[in-house]
Amino acid sequence: VVKKMENFQVTIRHIEGVPLLGSTCDAWDIIYGFQARGDDILIATYPKAGTTWMQEIVDLILQEGDAQKGRRAPCFIKVPFIDLIPPKPMPSGVELAQTMKSPRVLKTHLPINLLPPSFWEKNVKAVYVARNAKDCMVSYYYFQKINKGLPPPGTWENYFSAFLSGDVPWGSWFDHVIGWWKAMDKHQILFIFYEDMIEDPMREIRKVMKFLGKDLSDEVLENIKHHTSFQTMKENPMTNFSVFPNVIFDQTISPFMRKGTVGDWKNHFTVAQNIIFDEEYKKKMEGSGLNFRTEL
Ligand code: A3P
Repeated sequence: VVKKMENFQVTIRHIEGVPLLGSTCDAWDIIYGFQARGDDILIATYPKAGTTWMQEIVDLILQEGDAQKGRRAPCFIKVPFIDLIPPKPMPSGVELAQTMKSPRVLKTHLPINLLPPSFWEKNVKAVYVARNAKDCMVSYYYFQKINKGLPPPGTWENYFSAFLSGDVPWGSWFDHVIGWWKAMDKHQILFIFYEDMIEDPMREIRKVMKFLGKDLSDEVLENIKHHTSFQTMKENPMTNFSVFPNVIFDQTISPFMRKGTVGDWKNHFTVAQNIIFDEEYKKKMEGSGLNFRTEL
């Protein structure tokens, strides 16, 4: 277990123009050379889009709703995060993945152009979760406050500009969602919206189940819905990061399972910020064919 963060330097560098953690850049050859297996399931997201939620859904689908099995290990061990190099002595995502039995569920925040090519060579199925930019921004702001493995976010004012210009770890939200959205015609990608999951979790869980080629009863699906609800995951030590070293995640600042809603941005955006955001959004998203809901 990590006791101190003293020797862990948080830096940001760039790979093909995308800001990534220095530790990720240092290990880039290993990460980019990651060897996928044909039966891997990849969960890809921009940070704070609902990654952990989808991890639990996919895992419970594979476990056929057995919540006991779902709790066999913390979410960050069950689902290796292939582009992260955590402080030592924690194993890297690549190391964890290599020792895992198939079928593996893997996590990435990489924009599609930086994804290790092996995933497409092996024709891996990927579930992409997308969340509206405004709520993502708010969630990421709090997350950069609690996560000592990321740069501190600064003031909300500054963060707002940094996020809009893509100057945050893993880069531009816009490039990320558009890149993955466009790749759908070439690869096996299921594109899921966080807002749809909030609106009707059963419908979305069923979509994921079908995509994974499974057939589960309504009773099992109800069970999965229950065990992946915000409240259950907030109370579950395997999903709420309470077993994660608290020198890395300081949840006294804000819990990892924070609010889990659509529209919390309204409590943070000023009227002026909202106008600036909407203008920029229109320019960047025009013609993408992608539509997000910022309220339900
Ligand atoms: P908030 O900070 O808005 O509450 P990620 O897993 O990609 O880091 O995303 C974390 C965000 O997803 C947090 O958003 C968290 O509360 C939310 N989340 C996690 N599990 C959830 C669930 N079961 N239902 C709804 N939201 C969930």
